Amino acid sequence: MSDRLHLNLFTMTSVEHVSPGSWRYPGDRSAEYTDAEYWTEVARTAERGGFDAVFFADVRGVYDVYGDDRETAVERAVQTPASDPQLVVPAMAAATDDLGFAVTRSTTYTHPYQLAREFSTLDHLTDGRVAINVVTSYLESAAENLGLDERMEKGERYDRADEFLDVCYALWEDSWTDDAVERDRESGRYTDPEKVRAIDHEGEHFSVPGPHGCEPSPQRTPVVYQAGSSDRGREFAAANAEAVFASQPTEEGVREYIEDVKARAAEYGRDPDSLRFFIGVVPIVGETEAAAEQKHERYREHVDVEATLALLSGFLDMDLSELDPDRKVEHIETDAIQGTMNAFTRSQPDREWTVREVAEFCGLGTTSPTIVGTPEQVADELEYWHGEVGVHGFNVKEVVRPDSLVDFVDLVVPELRERGLLAPADADPPGDTLRERLLGEGQSRLRADHPARSSSE
Ligand SMILES: Cc1cc2nc3c(=O)[nH]c(=O)nc-3n(C[C@H](O)[C@H](O)[C@H](O)COP(=O)(O)O)c2cc1C
Repeated sequence: MSDRLHLNLFTMTSVEHVSPGSWRYPGDRSAEYTDAEYWTEVARTAERGGFDAVFFADVRGVYDVYGDDRETAVERAVQTPASDPQLVVPAMAAATDDLGFAVTRSTTYTHPYQLAREFSTLDHLTDGRVAINVVTSYLESAAENLGLDERMEKGERYDRADEFLDVCYALWEDSWTDDAVERDRESGRYTDPEKVRAIDHEGEHFSVPGPHGCEPSPQRTPVVYQAGSSDRGREFAAANAEAVFASQPTEEGVREYIEDVKARAAEYGRDPDSLRFFIGVVPIVGETEAAAEQKHERYREHVDVEATLALLSGFLDMDLSELDPDRKVEHIETDAIQGTMNAFTRSQPDREWTVREVAEFCGLGTTSPTIVGTPEQVADELEYWHGEVGVHGFNVKEVVRPDSLVDFVDLVVPELRERGLLAPADADPPGDTLRERLLGEGQSRLRADHPARSSSE
């Protein structure tokens, strides 16, 4: 692959994202997640490092599957407490020029008319630098707090998600023509009403006549991210996603995932090469190999194994407190996150994992590979995934915040620039919008072969 690689900082507006216990590390500033200044500083650092976007995970509910109790999750800060990531984006956008922002939103607990408005607003406020990571949520406690008696089963969640995006696409793409807004002071006509159309959506879950309440934003539809791993999830990604997040920790698993999602995308009439595949990585870098190894060892000492088990119990919808730590993990189809399960069963058929091994592995960044080494060694590994495996980019996960990000930007990024894998520090990005950063200059809008692209074009 000859093109440059893409980078997202994968984080969360919470004390802990996916490295439980690391908030205790000396100098870690995770507890500042409530401060706007912390996030504007992160944004500036990510922009300095040539990142395409900051990608915010988000969950609803509390991780109360472990021990059938929320005590561990609350006590050990397992993605709780957490703030709403969407609300820090305007401050981060104001502190940067080019950085994008991907925000995770669930289609299960909000309404498409409302969400379409929020993302049109964010796309305006960021001048076209916003993406949505579409998820369907997995914790039972989310359902209970948001008006349902119980969590919808996965197939139903994806059915709702399909219709949800249909409504959003119609509002974003079809409701207002590009020239609807005239702003004619003479005639007093701000908008030509003939060019603002109803969408008349009547479906199983939603009835939305429209029109959209916002004028078209730079990208209209935000860049669509997705991380589905189950059969339905992959189908949903193939139909909708422009950037796809593979969660397999092995090369074999990632290759299989990419091939499968590309083949499915072709079935929807999409050019499979237009999808951008990302994997998560946990870089632990030092100026020498020994320094990196030492840092890794110290990070591992701070992993909170019990908190990791509480996190994984939520991901898998399985109470791991009940299992013998030396028991082998057996494959199940889960109603929560299939990718986490597959990571230790399907994507590594030759290796058996015990519960204890999974918890230890996942303590630093869950299912993503940890890359420990000098800047050259980390760059070698990223270059391999990019050039040989077909991965377009990486969701960089921090262990210690923000030191892991700062290490990556100060040590690995110069090496990537040196190799031509990232644009030089003084280069302008290929366009103003996030979609152009991913797809190339002039491509601010959804591609013409995306199933959602306006039929009225
Ligand atoms: C690496 C990864 C990151 C995810 N991040 C989130 C998240 O931030 N919030 C959320 O509710 N779901 C998240 N999910 C869940 C999914 O996007 C999806 O809704 C879930 O995996 C269930 O579908 P699946 O079994 O098809 O993957 C994530 C999944 C993976 C694999």
